[in-house]
Amino acid sequence: MDPMSRASELRQILEHHAYRYYVLDSPEIGDSEYDRLFRELQDLEAAHPELRSSDSPTLRVGAPPVEGLKPHRHAIPMLSLDNAFGHEELRAFDERIRRFLETSDEIQYLAELKFDGASISLTYRDGLLEIGATRGDGTTGEDVTHNARTVRGIPLRLREPLPGGIEVRGEVVMLKSAFDELNRIKTEKGEQIFANARNAAAGGLRQLDSRQTAARKLSFYTYGLGYSDLSSGRRLADTQSEIIATLNRLGFPSRAESKVVNGADALVEYVDEIQRLRPGLPFGIDGVVIKVNSLDLQEALGFTARGPRWAIAYKFPAEQTFTRLNRIFAQVGRTGVITPVADLEPVQVGGVTVSRATLHNYEDLARKGVREGDIVIVQRAGDVIPEVVGPVIEKREGDLPVPAEPTACPECGTEPTRKAGEVALRCPNRRCPAQIAAKLRHFVGRKMMDIDGLGEKLIDRFLETGILTDMPSIFRLRDRRDELVGLDRLGELSIDNLIASIESSKNRSLARFLFALGIPSVGEKGGQDIARELRTLDAIRSADYDTLVAIPNVGPHTASEIQEWFEEPENQRMIEEMLALGVAPVEGEAPVSDLFVGQTIVFTGKLEKFSRESAEAFVTKMGGKSAGSVSKNTSLVVAGPGAGSKLEKAEQLGVTVVDEEGFLAMVPEGSF
Ligand code: IVH
Repeated sequence: MDPMSRASELRQILEHHAYRYYVLDSPEIGDSEYDRLFRELQDLEAAHPELRSSDSPTLRVGAPPVEGLKPHRHAIPMLSLDNAFGHEELRAFDERIRRFLETSDEIQYLAELKFDGASISLTYRDGLLEIGATRGDGTTGEDVTHNARTVRGIPLRLREPLPGGIEVRGEVVMLKSAFDELNRIKTEKGEQIFANARNAAAGGLRQLDSRQTAARKLSFYTYGLGYSDLSSGRRLADTQSEIIATLNRLGFPSRAESKVVNGADALVEYVDEIQRLRPGLPFGIDGVVIKVNSLDLQEALGFTARGPRWAIAYKFPAEQTFTRLNRIFAQVGRTGVITPVADLEPVQVGGVTVSRATLHNYEDLARKGVREGDIVIVQRAGDVIPEVVGPVIEKREGDLPVPAEPTACPECGTEPTRKAGEVALRCPNRRCPAQIAAKLRHFVGRKMMDIDGLGEKLIDRFLETGILTDMPSIFRLRDRRDELVGLDRLGELSIDNLIASIESSKNRSLARFLFALGIPSVGEKGGQDIARELRTLDAIRSADYDTLVAIPNVGPHTASEIQEWFEEPENQRMIEEMLALGVAPVEGEAPVSDLFVGQTIVFTGKLEKFSRESAEAFVTKMGGKSAGSVSKNTSLVVAGPGAGSKLEKAEQLGVTVVDEEGFLAMVPEGSF
């Protein structure tokens, strides 16, 4: 084949696979095959420069710098949206629309993710990408065509011929994975890291050297149409959702989370569902955008000075914010690791008030360059512990002292040590009170021994008075009942409940017991893996390195940590004592799944489809716990016919209630 035909064939093949990958999310070939074809085209174009074209995928790697960014005036302004916070404001939006349209009918909406990136306008002329422009002030943006070409997912040529001009709008985002990788490289080079993916994406789009943009591996999703001059105003579609479907066909990616929904209730349900999905999405979102789906209704609704009357941005609580860092203090964890923690001016972030945030370790603290008195960026994403991202240097007032690493354990005064090759600073004193308190808090935790009624304050009080000294001493509390009842403010009932809870914890699964012991590197999953493979505590206690390292998911480091832990005489003593006190982890019954981990389930009423015993055993097998009474800690009540007071209590407390069928529907088919 002649070079010209081969080059055009390669372009078509590459664009086809990019479409399969970015738009359909269903690739037909692997990355290496794509790279091979890509390189073949690059080589061809290098050997025959006359074959280069403005729609060649090889442009995606970037080109030498431009001199500056030229202004670009938008054919139609790029407006912003009104915000809604909370369900009430969302319902008010729906009501406003129905009032304006003078209808009581349910309105149909297209609900989409609100991408947290940088908006871009893409103009295509006769099917070819002509201009990519940033939003700018909404009227005039910057011409970033050279950079737009490097963004995978932005088609260089439309997949169907389209004479005339069309402008497609959407958001350029950086995937969380690309963001983490970018910051990892920056850290290695000792450079200032990016505070968030939005800044990295927006900055990436405004580079003069498009090779820099290419290196940021940006992504693009479309959310609509701007200007179009298709044969005398012919509309591409009748609804917003059809516009998106058409744009998908033309080669523009969008997200499968988008949904057409009817009425306010469905909107509320949708925004809540997306909020649940938010932490697991591959990129950041800051809310949901809701648009009236019918284009006729959109036209009828029109615009206010601010933006369209037919759309709204439903905003989630921000995951990042600014606040003052008042003080940095050292906290000792259960393995003795000393962690710098920031004491913050309380601030709302991620939907909760945060007054403390981790600074991870002293190396990280030094790298971020945070100082006491700084205004800092605080972040809390999903259930993750709040962290300090970094200082806002411009806001620093005067010379703040550089925080120093502690030279003594803040709790017991022992000189800290650092293992070779580790960043963590540790208090080497095994009797350090802070370590013991942290170990006990972990031991009684919900996913560990799950002992109710032994909270942080009570543990501290019992440690101070010498009633608790270590893990085994928990199981001796029963013998000191009367003494405990005498302690101030502790009711007889709560002591009895505590003792009952301790007693029932004696038969937790071996997996939980292993996790509870606090062996370094052994988490919830590790406990399960080890219990499943070795089955008995004795086998685990006496396992040699080779046996341990043969367990799936247990690496060399973890294997030696486990071995060292069990070899420690102090740990051997504690295990023996606990066994002597009646602790008998249920061996060989490691949960086979984590379906119900952390959940307490109550069965009540007459059960007709399965026996109570088998259901309770099943819950244990799936990592959960069953209980005989309903409390605020109950996660789920399964009620059969004739259920009485427990059902009532559950309803009072707002605990989820299902019938037997409902329960069966929650579990994977065939597992029960
Ligand atoms: S529609 C007139 N849809 O949010 C309609 N915008 O305040 C304008 N954004 O700057 C935008 N995801 O960059 C729309 N699914 C989405 C969006 C979205 C993110 C951004 C957009 C705009 C801002 C609106």
